[in-house]
Amino acid sequence: MTEPAVHRTDTSRTDASRTDASRTDASRTDASQTAMNRTATARTGPSRIDTTRPHPARVYDWFLGGKDNYPVDEELGRQIMAIETGAPRAAHANRRFMQRATRRLARKTGIRQFLDIGTGIPTEPNLHQIAQSVAPDARVVYVDNDPIVLAHAEALLHGTPEGVTEYLQADARDPRGILEQARRVLDFDRPIALSLIALLHFVADEDGAYELVDALVEALAPGSCLVLSAMTADFEPEHVRRGIATYAAGGVTLVARSQAEMGGFFKGLEVMEPGIVSVADWHPELTAEGEKPDGQGPVSLYGAVGLKP
Ligand SMILES: C[S@@+](CC[C@H](N)C(=O)[O-])C[C@H]1O[C@@H](n2cnc3c(N)ncnc32)[C@H](O)[C@@H]1O
Repeated sequence: MTEPAVHRTDTSRTDASRTDASRTDASRTDASQTAMNRTATARTGPSRIDTTRPHPARVYDWFLGGKDNYPVDEELGRQIMAIETGAPRAAHANRRFMQRATRRLARKTGIRQFLDIGTGIPTEPNLHQIAQSVAPDARVVYVDNDPIVLAHAEALLHGTPEGVTEYLQADARDPRGILEQARRVLDFDRPIALSLIALLHFVADEDGAYELVDALVEALAPGSCLVLSAMTADFEPEHVRRGIATYAAGGVTLVARSQAEMGGFFKGLEVMEPGIVSVADWHPELTAEGEKPDGQGPVSLYGAVGLKP
């Protein structure tokens, strides 16, 4: 792949509308930008879209009705559907949880900075569109390690002229590397909404799932929030067990976590109402006009938002 590993937009702002932080961005030299690109590429190795085996981002895209997937992804998606016909509903409900949580944080807490790790293939409305519809000056950093997300990153960068959107190709299991790069765009002395949406079930405990969350949360200022969703077998154990085995046969490792295990990600945080619940049950009343409701009954993903005191 020849695409740069880091993409950004903030060049259309006038000098008058720039904040101090963005002045620093604008004054970054070509040399340091190149170094940033090199760092991101070196960390993840050469990017290549492998169409011979399914990729989580593309299977999820298939569940959402997207077009950025390949026959191997569709085949795995269909195998999962044979076990759990509700998989597309869960994917849509998860997406809408992200939208409701982002909108609520932008409106109620005044957070203007967002770090979204495990972004996925662009699906409108994307997080920056939600955040910047409430606060046009919101600054958003997206992170993913899948080359197909990098290939489509351009679509994530059409934000408001007042705001900033940037895409980093990096691995969630390298939180310090992510923080190093994100600091060039986000002010970590001010609150940030860190979103890890449908990401952590791809990271096993032994691969550092809890440690990576701890490292990221530790870097956040008081008033920041962790927005998290991840798969659980609590509601439909047998379907989820078979689904995990099907993903494993396709070469994708998945981990389901109980509500108590999910709680472990919120160490030191105050979990907001209604707690750790099926994403479909997280403030359904905040569904925006014109948005489809999630339907009745839980889906096999927990979602929650925690506040750093
Ligand atoms: C199911 S998609 C979720 C996309 C989006 N967050 C959403 O909920 O709509 C999971 C995303 O996590 C990404 N991902 C998985 N493991 C990752 C890792 N170790 N580092 C960064 N991204 C990862 C995948 O590439 C994929 O895009």
